[in-house]
Amino acid sequence: MEKKVKIEELDPIKYGPLKGYFEGYRFYGPSSDTGYLMPAGYKELADNVLNMTARPDDVWVTGYPRSGTTLTQELVWQVANGCDYEKASKSPLMETIYVFRTYLYVYFRGEMSVNLIQSRVNGEVSEPVYTMDAVNEAPSPRFIKTHFPFSLLPSNLLDTTKVVYIARDPRDVVVSLYQFARRLMTIKTDFKTFWTLFFNDLVIYSPCLAHVKEAWQLRHHPNMEFIFYEDMIRDIPLYIKRVADFLDKKLTDDQIAELTEHLNIKNFRKNESVNPNWMNKSGNPDSEGFIRKGEAGGWREHFDEEMAAQAQRWISEHLAGSDLRFPDHTSQ
Ligand code: A3P
Repeated sequence: MEKKVKIEELDPIKYGPLKGYFEGYRFYGPSSDTGYLMPAGYKELADNVLNMTARPDDVWVTGYPRSGTTLTQELVWQVANGCDYEKASKSPLMETIYVFRTYLYVYFRGEMSVNLIQSRVNGEVSEPVYTMDAVNEAPSPRFIKTHFPFSLLPSNLLDTTKVVYIARDPRDVVVSLYQFARRLMTIKTDFKTFWTLFFNDLVIYSPCLAHVKEAWQLRHHPNMEFIFYEDMIRDIPLYIKRVADFLDKKLTDDQIAELTEHLNIKNFRKNESVNPNWMNKSGNPDSEGFIRKGEAGGWREHFDEEMAAQAQRWISEHLAGSDLRFPDHTSQ
C-alpha cells in the first residue's frame, strides 16, 4: 500500500515571529509530531521518495546538508568506479538528475550529465528539474545522494541497498550552512539570528540532531556505513579503505594515495567537476565558496559565549539518553 508522509503546520505560538521567515514551509515526517522542515510543494516528492524502489546495486550517500556529503559522494563514486578521474573530469558530480530542485540527486557521470552542464554553461538551463520517473528509470548502478533523513526514505532501504551516512558537529554545520545560504542569497539575516533559527528547527531539513540520531541508531546494520566528518578529514586514507571494504572493492596502495590527494580540499576546490563555477557565482561578495574551509571546530570563531552555552545545552538536551557524541579532535 502506498505510504503517505504526514504534514504539520508550523505552530504560530511556538514559532511566533520566526515563522515569518518560512512562509509555506511545513514539517514533513513519518508521524505528525516528528517532522523535518521542508518548503512548500515538497509533498508530492516526499510521498514518491518514501515509496520508491531501491535497488540492490544502488549506492546511497545521505547526510544533513553541509555535513561533507559532496566529499563523501566523490569518495564513494571513485571507490566504486576504480578511481576513474578521466571520466569524473568530464562529467560533473553536481550535474545529475535533480528532482524538484535539489532535494534528491542521482549522479551518473554519464552522457546526460555532460549535456546538462553544457546547457547550463550556454545559459539554456537555469535549474534542471526532473521527475521521479527519471530516477526510477535510470540505469544501474545508480549513485543517489540525498539530504532526506532515514524516516523519509523507503522503509526497506537498508535491507536492499548500501548507504553511507555522513554526520558532522551541528555547530560547524550551521556555520557552513549560513555561509552557503548567504552565497545563494536565500538568507539575509546575521549569523546569530540564523543560529536561533537553526536550533529552533527552522532551517530546511531541521531538526538536525534528530536527522543524525536516526542514522546513528542504524549504524550497526551491515548495509550501513556511518562516518563522522571530523574523523574522515583527519584520516582520509583510512576512510577510503573503509568505504572500499564496505563496497567490496579492492584498491592498491597507490590508488589510495592518489585518491587521498584527489580528495584533498586544496585540489577539491580547484576541481570543476565537484566545485563547479556556477555554484560559486553569487551576488554576495562577502560570502565564501561552496567548497569552503573544510575544518572541524571552526564554529568557535563564530559563536559568542551566549551562543556557545546555548549550543551546549541544546546538544546535551537532544543527546540525553543517546550515546551519540560528535568527535572533537581539536584539543589533541
Ligand atoms: P565548510 O563550509 O565548513 O568548509 P556538503 O558537501 O554536504 O554541502 O558539505 C560542505 C562542507 O564540506 C563544507 O564545509 C565544505 O568546505 C566541506 N568540504 C567539501 N569538500 C571537502 C574536502 N575535500 N575536504 C574537506 N572538507 C570538504
